[in-house]
Amino acid sequence: MKDIVDQLAEKRAAAALGGGQDRIDKQHARGKLTARERIELLLDEGSFEEWDTFVEHRCNDFGMEDNKVLGDGVVTGYGTINGRMVFIFSQDFTVFGGSLSETHAEKICKIMEQAVKVGAPIIGINDSGGARIQEGVLSLGGYADVFQKNVLASGVVPQISLVMGPCAGGAVYSPAMTDFIFMVKDTSYMFVTGPDVVKTVTHEQVTAEELGGAVTHSTISGVCDHACENDVEALGMVRRFINYLPSNNREKAPFRPTPDTADRAEMSLDTLIPDNPNKPYNMKEVIYKIADDNEFWELQPDHAKNIVIGMARMDGHTVGIVANQPLVQAGCLDIKSSIKAGRFVRFCDAFNIPIVTLVDVPGFMPGTAQEYGGIIKHGAKLLFAYAEATVPKVTIITRKAYGGAYDVMASKHLRGDVNFAWPSAEIAVMGPKGAVEIIFRGDLGDEEKIEQRTEEYRKKFANPFIAASRGFIDDVIAPHATRKRVCRSLAMLREKKLENPWRKHDNIPL
Ligand code: HXC
Repeated sequence: MKDIVDQLAEKRAAAALGGGQDRIDKQHARGKLTARERIELLLDEGSFEEWDTFVEHRCNDFGMEDNKVLGDGVVTGYGTINGRMVFIFSQDFTVFGGSLSETHAEKICKIMEQAVKVGAPIIGINDSGGARIQEGVLSLGGYADVFQKNVLASGVVPQISLVMGPCAGGAVYSPAMTDFIFMVKDTSYMFVTGPDVVKTVTHEQVTAEELGGAVTHSTISGVCDHACENDVEALGMVRRFINYLPSNNREKAPFRPTPDTADRAEMSLDTLIPDNPNKPYNMKEVIYKIADDNEFWELQPDHAKNIVIGMARMDGHTVGIVANQPLVQAGCLDIKSSIKAGRFVRFCDAFNIPIVTLVDVPGFMPGTAQEYGGIIKHGAKLLFAYAEATVPKVTIITRKAYGGAYDVMASKHLRGDVNFAWPSAEIAVMGPKGAVEIIFRGDLGDEEKIEQRTEEYRKKFANPFIAASRGFIDDVIAPHATRKRVCRSLAMLREKKLENPWRKHDNIPL
């Protein structure tokens, strides 16, 4: 018996070595950790239960029958993060470049299926040369099986992708269908076709980093939610980020007690809004000042900066924050910001996370670039997402809420549960100057008259009281009392129940 136990230990040791020490050294030399080291850092110490350590590929072409590595290039299993169950797969670049074979895909699908059964998040660590070339269509089938599992798990358990190496071709589509993507600068990239193909087809010359590196995807494309400096930072981030999320769509996010009292007044907010309505201020200041312990976990901080999204806690409970940012493009809604916020609102709604919306929006961005790009359809995504959301929705208008953007930003009309306005709020079809230039077109050229009409309009509409007189605003609140009023509203809404009519699924404008 002892011999057999020893043999088992030897087999495990062989599996742990993946593609061998040389390739491990190469991985380290690039500043990358191995698949197992990553799991060790991500999970609570000693909590990892590995499955399918002894799986081998079934390929007999191109001499592969003599080239088998236990585990077949992906380490899978489950463990805990801060005591909470998660399922994980981690691709091993030292084994056939982490490429995905039929059996490699089966291992991933197995843990995804189990995660959905027990209601625990799935974390995928991607570091792979894509489809296992020697396996041809079997490998493509494997990818499709993973995609199918991604889709069935979407909205049921949170799915988080760490991209920590190459991720090309079809391989980008599994991460793309997960809820959040974390990338590592300089060592990871994602693209549908690599620089060589780009050069052949479009004659563009571009490096892998420029085409699909972490900086590109966290600034220009918005594919990635966080660009991290290295593997260790990325894994630590995911460990902390997951604390904000529920384990599945039937649970609420974990409660984290805080010494920060719910009725804390923040007097500095009373002087935040500048006297000049065209002067910007930083909306993030409001977020940090009203959140528990002044903590805010921003997502996509460098993409579509005219809208701010992320997680915070209010009185110990996770909330999703969506906020216009007057510092960037005056906080206008455009294509990118609508897509960014729309997807986030849907994530929160799918996972029982209340949404707190801070509004200072002068409208949708005008111009041919936006119209030709389809702002009508993309802006409608955010509108649609807010309108269908049934989670608690608390909205605070700090300054401008003009036009369609007023409606879109979780207004009362879209089933906003509690809608507050600061006394500085201006709720109207458009800003005073634009409005006067349209309704008093005949006076154009008479500066004095236009000035007088603008002042008249400003007095009449640039305030929250007309909306409040109709009940569209539940109360006009002092800025310093925002935290207290929001926390109370969320407490009142804790057991909110609202369902949309039955249907197969809605038809959000994609
Ligand atoms: C089998 C692969 C592989 C693959 C890499 N390897 N990619 N083996 N299938 N797809 C192996 C290499 O042979 C090598 O083996 C080891 O992994 C490391 O690769 P290197 O090339 O030495 O590493 P590096 O220089 O870092 O380059 C990494 C790479 C490159 C950029 C990923 O290997 C590469 O371009 N691979 C091919 C990528 C690709 O075209 N994949 C198919 C995409 S299409 P040894 O034994 O030397 O260590 C696709 C379709 C999916 O994925 C569609 C789904 C719908």
